[in-house]
Amino acid sequence: MSLRLSLKVYPRLEDEDFKVLAAIELGMSSHAYTPIDYVAKLSGLHEKELSYRLRKLNKLKVILSSRSPQPSFAINSIAYDCLALRSLVKSGVIEAIGSPLAEGKESDVYLGLSSDGAKLVLKFLRIGRISFRQTRRLRSYIEQRDHISWLYQCRLAAFKEYEAISSLYKLGIKVPKPIAYNRHLLVSSFFDGIELAFCRELEQPDKILADILDEVRRVYMEAYMIHCDLNQYNVLVSSEGDICIIDWPQYITSSHPEALNYLKRDIRNISSFFRRKYDIHLDIDRAVNYVTGLSSTL
Ligand SMILES: Nc1ncnc2c1ncn2[C@@H]1O[C@H](COP(=O)(O)OP(=O)(O)OP(=O)(O)O)[C@@H](O)[C@H]1O
Ligand SMILES: [Mg+2]
Repeated sequence: MSLRLSLKVYPRLEDEDFKVLAAIELGMSSHAYTPIDYVAKLSGLHEKELSYRLRKLNKLKVILSSRSPQPSFAINSIAYDCLALRSLVKSGVIEAIGSPLAEGKESDVYLGLSSDGAKLVLKFLRIGRISFRQTRRLRSYIEQRDHISWLYQCRLAAFKEYEAISSLYKLGIKVPKPIAYNRHLLVSSFFDGIELAFCRELEQPDKILADILDEVRRVYMEAYMIHCDLNQYNVLVSSEGDICIIDWPQYITSSHPEALNYLKRDIRNISSFFRRKYDIHLDIDRAVNYVTGLSSTL
């Protein structure tokens, strides 16, 4: 479901509508569908007001309902987008939402504005790309409550990406600055650049490759992390030749049993791009030794 629909619905929602959506959402932590009594209690709305709101939300197609054993409701992803957006608008993080930067299967990424006029990146995560091993601990929790798994997994992915860029940013590694997150929405700073894949012709491709490997090294040696989806689409390059590594929800830590294989795969991905487009040949084993600190030069 794309964010376009959510942005059409968002301005039509009033305070009371949000109260009802938040009440349904809360009830969904223990129910597939939140019974109407719960919604009434959690929203604090009177019967008449509540039934008006439920009819409106149903018409706007942001809730699902079930009749038996009693009227019960669930929110859909449009409602979830609106709830997340509303929270960050209310807390003053987001002033306005602009044009889409990317709309994919796994996320919708939009440009935004902060209250002081800075450009923001709003990333709505759609599904978790978190490896099975990493979520195994949480799996049983999800299975018990698999009705909330999409809410839960998107939220987990946004939180994970927020945590990743927070620790990396603190270390001065070239990632977007984390600003806030709410539910499945991650807000970070905008980097004025384009994907490595779409850069026409780099002036100094060797330097860009070396810069990327330096960052990968710092990520591994200082933050004990591996990106796990490093490729020419997740590295942005500015017109001055600065880089920014984005898209972190699937990262793993260096204690992961397959850590070195994933690290090697990341390096291979980047290396094969530079080989194809710029005829630069990188020795993968040497690069791995460099990135892991076994050698101090490439
Ligand atoms: N901080 C940023 N600054 C500028 N542009 C960004 C930033 N973050 C993301 N983008 C843009 O949005 C695109 C998608 O972001 P990202 O790679 O984080 O998500 P994704 O999960 O790969 O999304 P999709 O599934 O849509 O490909 C990027 O390729 C880039 O064009
Ligand atoms: Mg990406």
